[in-house]
Amino acid sequence: MNNDEDGGPRQPIHDGEFDVWTKYSFIKGQVPKFHCNDPVGLRLIEEQNPVILTGSDLVATAFKWDLSYLTEHIGQGPFAVFCHGVSTSNDALSASPSASTTVQSCSCPQNNRNNHKDNHNHNGNGQGSSKIKCEGDDSLNKKKKVKMESTSINIFKYFDDKKLQALQDKSTFQQDIVRTEMSFEDFLNKFKGDRSKERVYLQQPLNNTVGRQIAADFVGFNWPWAMEKQKEWGWGPLTSNLLLIGQKGNITPCHYDEQQNLFCQLQGSKRFLLFSPANFRCLYPYPVHHPHDRQSQVDLDNPDFDRFPNFRQVESLEAIVNPGDILYIPMYWWHHVINSEDTIAINFWHKAGPNTQIEYPLKSRQKVAMIRNVEKMLLEALQDQDELANVLHCMVDGRF
Ligand code: SIN
Ligand code: FE
Repeated sequence: MNNDEDGGPRQPIHDGEFDVWTKYSFIKGQVPKFHCNDPVGLRLIEEQNPVILTGSDLVATAFKWDLSYLTEHIGQGPFAVFCHGVSTSNDALSASPSASTTVQSCSCPQNNRNNHKDNHNHNGNGQGSSKIKCEGDDSLNKKKKVKMESTSINIFKYFDDKKLQALQDKSTFQQDIVRTEMSFEDFLNKFKGDRSKERVYLQQPLNNTVGRQIAADFVGFNWPWAMEKQKEWGWGPLTSNLLLIGQKGNITPCHYDEQQNLFCQLQGSKRFLLFSPANFRCLYPYPVHHPHDRQSQVDLDNPDFDRFPNFRQVESLEAIVNPGDILYIPMYWWHHVINSEDTIAINFWHKAGPNTQIEYPLKSRQKVAMIRNVEKMLLEALQDQDELANVLHCMVDGRF
């Protein structure tokens, strides 16, 4: 039985539900809320700080988008849906006759994990003369044994397919979710199904397959306001509008994006934990070449302080986003997203604007961009993911 800090019993957590109001000691404040016309809020956005805007009509024509309206009008799709649960695990993949073809054809790396262990040289020695031999770096060359555990059924930890194909050491990756495509009707059946067994998260960019009514609603967004703000805030072009439909308890774990994000909540509430780019050293992102690039290796609910000691210093803001609210998630800001109810949302992703004058000292977000570029350039030159860590250690250890 879980107990609250005051010793009282918590609400029982039902099968397939999760505590969406976990208390985190690292939350140091709330994201400020402003009316969409308040110049103070707009100025904070221009300076790339997270803000909740209220009272906006940017997506007012979509406020009526509930599940029955979408079922009637969204069109034939197909729709990208992330699935997590028994029917996406290895055993179920081979055993379940009901698994869809897309799921069955998924090349789950768990199947190959042992083969990869045997076939790859993890030590980085004895593999040709191009390796840099660093004095006393034997301990560096011994691969850390990473304990892999399946994430809980509610954690939708995104991965990049292309990076997975290119990953040298597949034992550092475990696939928990499956991305599949299905009709809206099939999604809805899963959405209403037994959440203790399978969970689903629809994440589909709006495109020209949507029905006429949805297209009309989309055209009715306040595009003049969006374009005016894009210019004012110095953002690049709009890249996509992602429709997200999530179940209560679903979590998108802590990550950052390389785009500016206006996140518009339509139905239900979401709880965002936002960490500034200055938290890079506390959140231990995966290497840039890893399928989980841009995501934290730290499990926020069960942090391993031995591996990630700086996580003790992490600090976040919290934003509870309700229908009609718009949350601005600045580029390079980490966000951990908890669906505190069943939710429907749509976002506006924008490219970064052109680089204006660079001022010193550099901002944390600019340093993150630099780190990413250095990592990419080094890997490009080395052509060996294992060598990358060796060379980075070689550069730094005992020198700076
Ligand atoms: C989510 O709402 O679950 C994810 C949103 C995001 O990462 O931008
Ligand atoms: Fe994101």
